[in-house]
Amino acid sequence: DLYGPSRRNSTGMDLSTAADRQALTAAVAALNSETLEAGPIIDGKLVKVGAADDRASPADLSCRLGRVWSATPAEVEAAYVAAKAAQPAWDALGGEGRAPILRAMADALETHRERLVAICAREAGKTFADGVAEVREAADFCRYYAYLAETQFAAPDTLRGPVGETNRLSLHGRGVFACISPWNFPLAIFTGQIAAALAAGNAVVAKPAEQTPLVAAEAVRLFHAAGLPAALLHLLPGDGPTVGQALVAHAACAGVAFTGGTETAWAINRTLAARQGPIVPFIAETGGLNAMFVDTTALREQVIDDVVASAFGSAGQRCSALRILFAPNDTADALIEGLKGAMDTLVVGDPADPRTDIGPVIDEEARAGLAAHLERLGTGARGLHQCEAPAGGHFFGPVLAEIPTAGFLQREVFGPILHVVRYDSANLAEAARPLVEAGYGLTLGVHSRLESFAEEVQRTVPAGNAYVNRSMIGAVVGVQPFGGEGLSGTGPKAGGPHALLRYAVERAVSVNI
Ligand code: SER
Repeated sequence: DLYGPSRRNSTGMDLSTAADRQALTAAVAALNSETLEAGPIIDGKLVKVGAADDRASPADLSCRLGRVWSATPAEVEAAYVAAKAAQPAWDALGGEGRAPILRAMADALETHRERLVAICAREAGKTFADGVAEVREAADFCRYYAYLAETQFAAPDTLRGPVGETNRLSLHGRGVFACISPWNFPLAIFTGQIAAALAAGNAVVAKPAEQTPLVAAEAVRLFHAAGLPAALLHLLPGDGPTVGQALVAHAACAGVAFTGGTETAWAINRTLAARQGPIVPFIAETGGLNAMFVDTTALREQVIDDVVASAFGSAGQRCSALRILFAPNDTADALIEGLKGAMDTLVVGDPADPRTDIGPVIDEEARAGLAAHLERLGTGARGLHQCEAPAGGHFFGPVLAEIPTAGFLQREVFGPILHVVRYDSANLAEAARPLVEAGYGLTLGVHSRLESFAEEVQRTVPAGNAYVNRSMIGAVVGVQPFGGEGLSGTGPKAGGPHALLRYAVERAVSVNI
């Protein structure tokens, strides 16, 4: 069973209890008396070369959270040399030998959960609920890929062949994988990529997003403390055009796992295409222009709850988030009024306050980009509605904006802006055409009591993950394998049974006795 019958997902915390909330509040307070540090971690040692960059919180620009050193070409080289030397022995352990270390990492993540949630709140502006989900997902990836390592990377498969000959097929690591991760899931995706590459028998050089190296450094320390030999995982913080580029261009890079924007994926593709040397796989999870289609049979209150969660949860900073709601002409007015009412109850503010629904966006560039997008929509958008947002951080009040057609959007807009298009649900294909032509294919939502309508939507709009009569965010490892197609990514899906295969090489051995 590829889904792991004996595997359980991590259970998280109960934020409705005062004890759990206080544990998190105390963990945030504890950070006030600490200066977190991140930088290149090579062979388990933090390298402090050059000037450190001071980090504030996107929720509180006056909060001095930590210091960060960027990697230089010397650390990139040292990381590859050490990782390449260590990888064959790791691969030779087989999946059964590697799995216990991934499980120990999952346990370590849970043991240090409160601290990790607190760092996610401060560094990435994640609410407590999102931070708890972050730790759970990171632990789930470790346990799920441990399970796949044991089942897919254990003894070779014996194949049927001529009498007198044995034929075996086995999976192995490729070498050193470059893992390049985003700030919106600074722990879960960072850990998930690394866990996948390690489970398949690779060593890893990891570049966290520029905005979130502090929680990534914590995760690397936990991997090493959980028993992973230090030479198998190195941290290389820095920006994409220098450090990311150097990791991808390196002759020892045996594969790239990337989650982030479509433009960056194109840039990585170009770098890989220009390399002389081994031809390597590129695993990319990128953005989406994700839509939800509602028809007149849908239950309005359920739609409102699911739209608010999907469009505004995590301040809309999920690649899965809802960007365009297709509201049926006949019930659109009531639906839009209901949505505006629900938006007015949202609390935008300090993510480390348990009452907060929506934290800040990640940085000033993100906030300014969203404001510029609203300006561009300008007079084309009607029924504009925006929630209030506090000052003091990079806050952006969630927005609902009606647009005449989906053609107004060609690219993903990454934040809490919900676009609404009124449409005739009997003429779905026409309304969806600009969306399909834009070429993304990540998530898709449907709200309808008619199975035939839900099926029609799925036939019309390509998507890696479709959700019917529920929210369209928060894919669970081993339950909703996650990832898109087209401009949205290459697959294989994270947290799914085929996740490790592109991290691996296959070797067939035929012996004539
Ligand atoms: N895996 C995340 C989600 O499903 C990605 O954005 O929401």
